[in-house]
Amino acid sequence: AVVGKGNYRHFMEKELHEHPAVLGDTLRQYLDPKTLEVRLPRLPFDPVRVPRLTISACGSAFLAGMVGRYWIEQLARLPVDADVASEFRYRDPPLPEGGAAILVSQSGETADNMAALRLLREAGQKVLSVVNVPESSMARESDGALLTVAGPEIGVASTKAFTAQLAVLACLAIGFGRARRELSTLDEGRLTQALLEVPGHAAAILERDEQIKTLAAEVAKARDVLFLGRGSLYPIALEGALKLKEISYIHAEGYAAGEMKHGPIALIDREVPVIALCPSGPLFEKTASNLQEAAARGGRIMAFTDAEGAGPLSRFAERVIEMPHAGDFAAPILYAIPVQLLAYHVAVLKGTDVDQPRNLAKSVTVE
Ligand code: G6P
Repeated sequence: AVVGKGNYRHFMEKELHEHPAVLGDTLRQYLDPKTLEVRLPRLPFDPVRVPRLTISACGSAFLAGMVGRYWIEQLARLPVDADVASEFRYRDPPLPEGGAAILVSQSGETADNMAALRLLREAGQKVLSVVNVPESSMARESDGALLTVAGPEIGVASTKAFTAQLAVLACLAIGFGRARRELSTLDEGRLTQALLEVPGHAAAILERDEQIKTLAAEVAKARDVLFLGRGSLYPIALEGALKLKEISYIHAEGYAAGEMKHGPIALIDREVPVIALCPSGPLFEKTASNLQEAAARGGRIMAFTDAEGAGPLSRFAERVIEMPHAGDFAAPILYAIPVQLLAYHVAVLKGTDVDQPRNLAKSVTVE
């Protein structure tokens, strides 16, 4: 069937607005809302026995994989290596006997990741792919595949497929945690409950569109933009910067908030907006103090947070965009949405070809 734009100006805008439905459909696939349990199909490996996991992907899918690494290590206490496929395939890393890998891809056709897949299988690793296209090469050649239920994604820059990848990886992390007896039934219930609330929160975030447009007007004037986050929000800071570069052509960098003092702080002045992803939780105070250091050097802090009254951020942030209270586990899924929306609005203001940015392809099938 031919996919249209409906009443939207761009496919990307339409796809951004599909977040609540796509997240709902994907989560329903892998968790039971009645029992609050994760329900995974038969996997090609036993998470209790694997000594280590490799995650390989490209672009935004790699950043989803990076969040997956944080979740799986934290909830399942299983060591994970996450790599971009173009590095992984030539790095020649030692792979453990009985090891396994997770490949993440929207298209399931990306050449570097297909090469990683073949290499992994030759090295005796069991490969599970998280893909959006069921009939793709990756789905076919893997030992098992979990589908993201995002539907066709036309905009070159990934949006809904990215958050759907996060949703699947979150379910996997919980499932592994339970299998490895690192999570109690109570923990599992609390985490799945948080995931079940994600589609509703996603809809609430899309209603902040006007606020994000106002922020976009500021960002569109900048030459450089810095995105900061910590923990599982660090990959989302990278995603925010990647998305902005891809479609608005503004130079942006994503950084781990605590690492800013080792370099990017030298760039900070009134001209550089600092987009901070700062959910309440164990790392909130740490990120807030990094931001205060940036503000003290004239940095213009634009913060996304769910902290009550923005907490200490209210003292120095130029702009605060209030996020729903979702808990820190689900935060990466939710904070991905406003950074994608921000990039979208900046690109529209810049008049770029949002759905077909220059030099980029939806699926990179050559090395
Ligand atoms: C291209 C797209 C990105 C995507 C990446 C990986 O660069 O523009 O949006 O994240 O490829 O694609 P895949 O299909 O493997 O997820």
